[in-house]
Amino acid sequence: MARRPMVAGNWKMYKTAGEGAILTQNIDPLVADFWEDVEVVVCPPFTALKSVSTVIELDRLKMGLGAQDVHWEDEGAFTGAIAPRMLVDLRCDYVIVGHSERREYFGETDETVNKKAHAVFAANMVPIVCVGESLAVREAEETEAFVRGQVRAAVEGLSAEQAARLVIAYEPVWAIGTGRTPTPEGANDVCRSIRATVGAVFGQPAAISVRVLYGGSVKPENASMFFAEPDIDGALVGGAALDAASFASIVQAAR
Ligand code: PGA
Repeated sequence: MARRPMVAGNWKMYKTAGEGAILTQNIDPLVADFWEDVEVVVCPPFTALKSVSTVIELDRLKMGLGAQDVHWEDEGAFTGAIAPRMLVDLRCDYVIVGHSERREYFGETDETVNKKAHAVFAANMVPIVCVGESLAVREAEETEAFVRGQVRAAVEGLSAEQAARLVIAYEPVWAIGTGRTPTPEGANDVCRSIRATVGAVFGQPAAISVRVLYGGSVKPENASMFFAEPDIDGALVGGAALDAASFASIVQAAR
């Protein structure tokens, strides 16, 4: 399969600028041998993007940089918000969009996720769009229909070429930070359905190219089981991304 696996670390609201630079320097030697095979991305909080970006540039690390959120406007009176061009200025490659914590605590909707996805592409970065069902949706056995709806809303109006470059992270809300996960086969079923949705909207080439990650309690102990599944192209990692050795062993499992 031609898709290059990706392992992205979502640092959430952890790590100062200095701590983030050190974590990046600690991750690098542990993953340096795997760069050809696996795309490694770190997503620090906004305040650590500059220091991590500087480490990546000065030490010439082959690591991608992502932000955890963005506003969809180019600039304006939006106190506290960050515009896409500000992230480009810090050499960000990716932006996480629509993480379930943003949806739950910060009023992110399918509509704002879609606006942000467009804005990220317009700035020549790539969105990592997060989707995933709550426990209630899962128990009602509506997971695939729900996730398909989130995907369709997120990608509305994108071009087929953009859809092909998109990264979608399937993160069941009930698996994030809980130590609980779906079975690898169950996660793969939803990831396959996400890929099929992209195919239905944009055609088969986009479906073949779009990378679909699994996220939610990915650890060194379970990562390789998820990566063995055909429609899972890597992972979006939260807690285990804050420790260089844990993150690196997940990267290694993705080879
Ligand atoms: P977790 O978080 O790995 O700590 O479950 C994943 C995420 O929220 O992206």
